[in-house]
Amino acid sequence: MQPSKTPMLTRETIAQRVGELAETIARDYADKDLLLLFVLKGAMVFGSDLMRLLPGRVAVDFVRARSYTGPNSSGRVRLLYTPTAPLADRHVLLVEDILDTGRTARFLEEHLRGYQLASLRLVTLLDKPARREVELTADYVGFTIDNQFVVGYGLDYDEAYRELPAIHVLENGKTG
Ligand code: XMP
Ligand code: MG
Repeated sequence: MQPSKTPMLTRETIAQRVGELAETIARDYADKDLLLLFVLKGAMVFGSDLMRLLPGRVAVDFVRARSYTGPNSSGRVRLLYTPTAPLADRHVLLVEDILDTGRTARFLEEHLRGYQLASLRLVTLLDKPARREVELTADYVGFTIDNQFVVGYGLDYDEAYRELPAIHVLENGKTG
């Protein structure tokens, strides 16, 4: 398996869309202090680009959950890391790389509801609605994509390819 030679989403296309998302989010939170919770590890690249486009006060912390071992989701979610920042009364925006079955984001949302947040929303760079197994809609979506496994811009295949600047479909090397 290897990344397609031609990106599915080029770095320019991604940058343009992340800029649009940042504008919308900045408008929606104009009078509020925002706490971005990056869902590690996949969202680190998207989150880093997004946070630098948001004006005003933005704090960052991290959550880490695991529901995935290779191209097929196991369906189970485990929490590996929780934020150290106090969450009560904060406006929290959960930052995801991709929504697939929806189980990870759903699990994190339910977990975070225990913290008396001022508000909780979800931004995801990519959305694969065809794969959804639990009801979940993101408040902000970068790109809706078909049911293909993608890598790059933070997204990995067994920890490889996160460093690619664009997003590529993972394909069988023999066809490429
Ligand atoms: P669920 O199924 O819980 O999964 O919504 C979310 C997590 O699954 C991983 N995932 C992918 N990772 N390319 C990846 O590199 C993909 O196409 C893909 N689809 C799902 C990812 O870690 C995401 O946070
Ligand atoms: Mg992820």
